[in-house]
Amino acid sequence: MDAHPIPAAHRIRIAGSDAVFDCADGDTLLRAAQRAGLGFPYECNVGSCGNCKFELVEGALQMAWEQAPGWSDKDRTRKRYLGCQAQPLGACSVKLRLDPRCAPVHRPTRGDARLLARRAITHDISEFRFALALAQRFEPGQYALAHLDGVVGARAWSMSNAPIDDNADGAVWEFQVRRLAGGKGSDALFDALQIGQRIGIDGPYGMAWLRRAAPRDILCLAGGSGLAPMVSIARGAMAEPQLAQRRLHFLYGARTPADVCGQELLRALPGWGERLDYQAVVSDAAARDGGWSGAVGYLHQAALERFGERLAQMEIYFAGPPAMANATQRMLLDAGVPMAQVHFDQFY
Ligand SMILES: Cc1cc2nc3c(=O)[nH]c(=O)nc-3n(C[C@H](O)[C@H](O)[C@H](O)COP(=O)(O)OP(=O)(O)OC[C@H]3O[C@@H](n4cnc5c(N)ncnc54)[C@H](O)[C@@H]3O)c2cc1C
Ligand code: FES
Repeated sequence: MDAHPIPAAHRIRIAGSDAVFDCADGDTLLRAAQRAGLGFPYECNVGSCGNCKFELVEGALQMAWEQAPGWSDKDRTRKRYLGCQAQPLGACSVKLRLDPRCAPVHRPTRGDARLLARRAITHDISEFRFALALAQRFEPGQYALAHLDGVVGARAWSMSNAPIDDNADGAVWEFQVRRLAGGKGSDALFDALQIGQRIGIDGPYGMAWLRRAAPRDILCLAGGSGLAPMVSIARGAMAEPQLAQRRLHFLYGARTPADVCGQELLRALPGWGERLDYQAVVSDAAARDGGWSGAVGYLHQAALERFGERLAQMEIYFAGPPAMANATQRMLLDAGVPMAQVHFDQFY
């Protein structure tokens, strides 16, 4: 018997084009297309945003998560599926528009990662350091899919380190994860996973990566658990000779003063106080009563008040929950910021 059977792969054709790729058993169409270097459009990779929809022309497939919020009854009747959840059962032909902007900078791979260390950042955010079995590259600002024992479906976590931290014999990827009360992924990561144990990691994914060639100062807006990718962008930008003339402003939006974090991580970077600064804003109006002397309000308002018309001259990255991301996107549009200068992944 073959000890390492090769998983069956199904041939996927994109109707009306020459594009063809193979999707292994158990993989999804979106991820297999990305592994093949194709620009299959997507955002969250976890069934929520609906940006990865395609139409099935021929063949059969199953949805890994039938209740995915991004998949409607109307989609079902029209044979539209989510690329991040669709698993082919044989050869398929599909209709979708490839977008070169969604093609991977580094083709994602799947492998094991061993937990090396963890430390608390706030009362509910901790940093987890993993060693990957493979020397897989990523860009600052990207995310990975984590497969945890006993948890159905993948969880998306953004890397918080800069990729220059890579080891020769593998790669170190760090994540800063907020514990969600009752969350299955949170429980498995915070309570069950021990140092030395392994999880499955698939990545990198995401389009909100650091643009090195952009000739503009950088603004990073991080809301709540959106800390990690913005810290990664800051770490990458401060280490990058090509960006040595750029300033980076980092704004962190928290609910209460107890949730504020990130400054200590940035203080450790070269450029701190010269071309790197940090400001926190809390949304809880009662914060002043507790002695908070910093800004109070919403993150997008704080950014607008501080930078105003200068926003249109900046390269802007943001990450956080959908409410924060939507408000920020609207504010930037109203402020006349060209969307080509704006990069984000919403945290569903
Ligand atoms: C692009 C992106 C980057 C993110 N980066 C970070 C980060 O850096 N730090 C951080 O704290 N959080 C991040 N998140 C949020 C994170 O992925 C989780 O949603 C959050 O940690 C809560 O997960 P949970 O398992 O604890 O909660 P749960 O409520 O158990 O799970 C919520 C998540 O799991 C998915 N899910 C639930 N059930 C299923 C199922 N049956 N099959 C498939 N999927 C399922 C949902 O789509 C949702 O994403 C990110 C999200 C996205 C989309
Ligand atoms: S629903 Fe598939 S990428 Fe968001």
